[in-house]
Amino acid sequence: MARRRPMMAANWKMNKLLGEAREYVEQLLPRIEGVEGADVALFVPLTALSEVVRLTEGTPVLAGAQNFYYKDSGAFTGEVSAPMLLDVGAGAVVVGHSERREIFGETDEMVARKAARAVSAGLLPVVCIGETKEERDSGGMWEKVSGQVRAVFEHLDDDISGEAIVFAYEPIWAIGTGDTATPEDAQDATGKVRGLLGELRGEDFAGAVRILYGGSVKPGNVEEIMAQEDVDGGLVGGASLEAESFAELVNAAANV
Ligand code: 13P
Repeated sequence: MARRRPMMAANWKMNKLLGEAREYVEQLLPRIEGVEGADVALFVPLTALSEVVRLTEGTPVLAGAQNFYYKDSGAFTGEVSAPMLLDVGAGAVVVGHSERREIFGETDEMVARKAARAVSAGLLPVVCIGETKEERDSGGMWEKVSGQVRAVFEHLDDDISGEAIVFAYEPIWAIGTGDTATPEDAQDATGKVRGLLGELRGEDFAGAVRILYGGSVKPGNVEEIMAQEDVDGGLVGGASLEAESFAELVNAAANV
């Protein structure tokens, strides 16, 4: 199976004021100049989004949001819609991050509707899936993860291409803990996800979908994780907050 174009994505989570966001982009761009072998995405707080779009205009960096709501407008206090994200120039959006699911109560159904709306709006969704420590320890990893993936396909149009959606396998026990999944665990989960995508939408579709790994990715472990056949990149929290270390990750992804 041909390898897909790698993607290295930063998830800043709830970090960085405007000035810090500006400084970061100014530090990042020269460090990744000329890198051609990977897509680069920055998922930033909404308050910094239009500024990051402006500063990355004309560069290969894709600016995106970390969440949105699947309705386009109306009485949904505190939410933003896909047209609003497009309006400020966003190209992508994280959907169903485990922090949204666990802290803010997002269900598989909501995540699926968001993924479908992002695709139909022309935003690239990075749909997060992953199990808790308890689920893994009790042998329930695949039941959880496969259920999350299947739910997404209940709402996604039949005719979308594999390039229109990205999944990120992020085992919850590996997020922000320094406790990275082993490369074998990352391959096991991403390989199973790709197998399921093949069952659901056929081999061509499955072969085109990028599946990222997230959970304590850092410069010291990125190469062995990226070396796995079904891992097409990373979704990175902590190690993406410094431009210098994120630039190292981008360069590593581009050299796979
Ligand atoms: P860390 O890289 O800090 O473990 O976070 C991973 C993550 O949740 C990215 O979305």
